[in-house]
Amino acid sequence: MAKLTFNELKIILDNIDDVPTLPTIASKIIHTANMPLSNAKQMGKVLEKDQALTFKVLRMANSAFYAVKDPVKTVDRAIVVMGFNRVKNIVTRVSAISSFGGSTNSDLFDMTKFWEHCIAVGMTCSILAKQLKMPKPDEMFTAGLLHDIGKLILAQYLVSEFEKIAKKVYSDNCSFIQAERDIIGVDHTHIGKWLANKWRLSKDIKLIISEHHHPPGDDLILGTSAKPIVLVFLADHITRKAHIGFGGDTLIPPINPKIWNIVDQNKINIDQAGKELLENRYVINEYLDISQNEETS
Ligand SMILES: [Fe+2]
Repeated sequence: MAKLTFNELKIILDNIDDVPTLPTIASKIIHTANMPLSNAKQMGKVLEKDQALTFKVLRMANSAFYAVKDPVKTVDRAIVVMGFNRVKNIVTRVSAISSFGGSTNSDLFDMTKFWEHCIAVGMTCSILAKQLKMPKPDEMFTAGLLHDIGKLILAQYLVSEFEKIAKKVYSDNCSFIQAERDIIGVDHTHIGKWLANKWRLSKDIKLIISEHHHPPGDDLILGTSAKPIVLVFLADHITRKAHIGFGGDTLIPPINPKIWNIVDQNKINIDQAGKELLENRYVINEYLDISQNEETS
């Protein structure tokens, strides 16, 4: 395949008819939660219509990670205890992981290792957001988890291109994005943006997916998303250093000092974030187990 322009890529993607969709209920919840006048009752009513999703949310709510005192047995209670926004984020995360199933069409793609990497990046994003006292650390978890989602579409639907890229990464020891640009001319940020639009994800998450390889320091283009994008970059760096999962290549991207113009270096503790990630590593397996298990009882 010759190199593609973004429009040519879009035509190919638009013609795939079995692209995973978020469950209708999950889409409704994301939509409901983004409406200014929505409330917990409305969200609970919508969520209860999907038993499997309800089961997953309740399992997540009762996981050690959230350390809720009394067992959470109903959706309404989960929303009261965990908050509206956190439940919306859990729904988005488990639905995204569930929607792709356990494998892709390429033997060179290890789905479990990919999600391990993504969940770890999400967790680290939320740890860093808490260090910076940002208002919605849970939103950062979701953004970090989804930032590389375009790679999954590549491995599932553009299999021969994906395999050429994976082989080039291995033979040249280059980054995944470099190999993508060399071989197909576009990359997973374009593909991810396309999927984020299809799934109607929030504007902030869309921007993180599409701009996470943007050179740091160019905050004229990134605006208020510059800080979350830097967090995703740092979280990726920390996760790779901790050797958790596999994000497409084994390189550890160096930290460009320009990022400290965007986040306050004195408030960020990279070593501490890495330590916290490793201490909470069990959460990664919880997420995979809950998201990929279809049992409802
Ligand atoms: Fe990426």
